Amino acid sequence: MINTDFPKFDLGFLPTPLVELKNLSKYLSGPHIFMKRDDMTGLAFGGNKTRKLEYLLGEALFGGYDTLITGGAEQSNHCRQTAAAAAFAGLECHLVLSGNPPDDFNGNLLLNRLCKAQIHWAGDFRKGETIPSVAEDLRSKGKKPYTIPYGGSNVTGALGFVEAAEELSIQMSEKKLRFDRIVFASSSGGTHAGLMVGAEIYGLDSEITGIAIDKEGLEEGTFGKMILDLTNETALKLDISKVFTNNDIILKNGYTGNGYGVAGKLEKEAISLLASLEGVFLDPVYTGRAMGGLIDMIRKKEITEKERVLFWHTGGTPALFSYAFELMK
Ligand SMILES: Cc1ncc(COP(=O)(O)O)c(C=O)c1O
Repeated sequence: MINTDFPKFDLGFLPTPLVELKNLSKYLSGPHIFMKRDDMTGLAFGGNKTRKLEYLLGEALFGGYDTLITGGAEQSNHCRQTAAAAAFAGLECHLVLSGNPPDDFNGNLLLNRLCKAQIHWAGDFRKGETIPSVAEDLRSKGKKPYTIPYGGSNVTGALGFVEAAEELSIQMSEKKLRFDRIVFASSSGGTHAGLMVGAEIYGLDSEITGIAIDKEGLEEGTFGKMILDLTNETALKLDISKVFTNNDIILKNGYTGNGYGVAGKLEKEAISLLASLEGVFLDPVYTGRAMGGLIDMIRKKEITEKERVLFWHTGGTPALFSYAFELMK
């Protein structure tokens, strides 16, 4: 445990399994590929947000807040897991989602509804930009809302992934494994920042390789800068003396295809391969894209068969159902 002083609310079924994907390695004539199954973190069909929410809810409950607010895309996994965490903790939950009320409540939207989260439709805003006005309105009604940023990616949320690095380091020593690289979907930066700091603390000695999911922010380099800042802020919170620099951030930005949430050939092949070879489901937005990127790097020999690679499955599978029509095309 890194620092027991931070309030934490247990939500996850941890540790998640660490498994080898032998059939995929064989199919690609590639490196040894392992998977950290954070699609099995347990909260509302699992996903990476469970780990962040343990610290975010810890802070909210410690501070006496009675309501959670967060935001994201219509099929946001982060919002679905927040809705479930709120239900479990007995808090009210407000979700600011992009778009307009649909005719069909499917995938994550259905799960939000079942958890009785209140949805505020935000039109073109996808990253919870209108959260402050919802929070203000709730305060004027006597509520005490706790705002969770887009993706749960602030220092508090990132602590969950520092701890995840510790969890992995224990599994690695139990199984006598070492990974040259850890590959995962990177979108709001909290997973990336937490793993960077955790890798430093627990001596993982692996290249932490994020696959950028969203085109937004990449052109101006602002996403990389955001990850770097969050990494350093998280390190500072934990009294780690290392100052991370731009060179420490590995972000592959060549796999954003036709943009956020658009499942193309790359994602569809990855989803189909993992299901048919390993019986593992990926999602069309995040893990399908990240695995597609990993497969491409293996095919291009950017990752050689000598390496040992860990793919961190960050969840998202409930969104599969809302993409049924496209995936069957
Ligand atoms: C399934 C899934 N994987 C990966 C990510 C990206 O994680 P992060 O926001 O910490 O970069 C998300 C973010 O919502 C997600 O839902």
